[in-house]
Amino acid sequence: MPYTSYHLMPREDADAIHTYLMTVEPINRAAPVTSLSFPFNVRLGLMGWNMLYGKDVKLAPADGKSEAWKRGQYMVDVLGHCGECHTPRGLPGAMQQDKRLTGGLLNGYLAPSLLAIDLAARGWTHQDLRSFLKHGLSAQGTMFNEMFPVFHNSTQNLNDPDLAAMATYLLGDQPPQAKVLAEVPLAKMTESAQRGRQDYLNVCAGCHGVAGEGKPHIAVAMQGNTTLRLEDPRNLSRVIEEGIGEQQFAGFERMQPMPGFAGKLDNQQLADLLNYLRQAWGGQPADLVLSQIEQLKADAATEHKAR
Ligand code: HEC
Ligand code: HEC
Repeated sequence: MPYTSYHLMPREDADAIHTYLMTVEPINRAAPVTSLSFPFNVRLGLMGWNMLYGKDVKLAPADGKSEAWKRGQYMVDVLGHCGECHTPRGLPGAMQQDKRLTGGLLNGYLAPSLLAIDLAARGWTHQDLRSFLKHGLSAQGTMFNEMFPVFHNSTQNLNDPDLAAMATYLLGDQPPQAKVLAEVPLAKMTESAQRGRQDYLNVCAGCHGVAGEGKPHIAVAMQGNTTLRLEDPRNLSRVIEEGIGEQQFAGFERMQPMPGFAGKLDNQQLADLLNYLRQAWGGQPADLVLSQIEQLKADAATEHKAR
């Protein structure tokens, strides 16, 4: 329950939510058993935590910002509680307010930085962000992992002015120029990336296209896909290993599930593939070595055990 974000909600909005909830048909269902760890599983412990961190979210100053920016700030930082995943947490589990929206880790996936400068570096425009929140996909790819329920339960139902306001807040009143990547010719790629291209053609191109162009209603493009453009390779590596189950997007948009390749690619093949994807379409260096792949896999295994 992200009340550290909600505590900035004005009384009228909290009352309006209450009024709405009172119209919802009650369902008789036992609350799930808490799997929270100490001290969050003890009510008294939580009281102590609250005194220290509970009223933690502080909004950035809004002086000189547009009305859309201010609305977007309320939607993103308070109602949408986007920072609960996209802000790193310190040791006692509280969001680090001085690092707001700079990216957080959860279940071994990265909820990437949403700072304007980082979004623009990964090619995000105002239009694409709006489309991503509304439809669950855009030229930058689809939502998956913990981001999918955010779209499914929440952002697809928002109205257009609110979606535009969120994009304005995230990118700023004067958005930085979205970075377009130059194509890297095969001959300029590292040897590992060149081997990775062969693996890509063998197992991925059937769905994602020989030139990474994707196929409408079948699979997303690799060109311009932000999962490839993240400096941290963990989301890319986990998506390839674990796949993505079938997800339903807005309207009638549906895609095939993305198959997982765990056990089908050895560590060298995975390294080569990551290097190819990162160099061809990610604007990232193709310098991942076996020890980093082993580390990525060990991290993922630890996460699986913890769940
Ligand atoms: C059977 C078709 C299919 C094959 C084969 C396939 N993919 Fe995918 N892939 C998809 C679909 C569909 C999605 C989007 C799924 C979703 O988000 O619901 C996807 C998503 C992804 C993503 C996440 C990007 C995003 O924005 O969702 C990456 C990265 C990716 N695939 C890489 C690969 C690589 C690398 C290979 C080969 C090892 C591969 N895929 C093989 C269908 C496929
Ligand atoms: C429950 C955790 C969670 C919450 C809450 C959440 N996100 Fe995310 N978000 C993620 C994860 C994990 C990813 C990485 C997977 C992906 O790209 O879909 C992500 C990815 C994204 C991306 C794509 C970034 C990129 O460059 O690929 C955007 C944009 C984004 N989130 C915006 C938002 C906004 C706006 C909100 C608030 C309405 C929000 N998120 C709330 C977990 C979350």
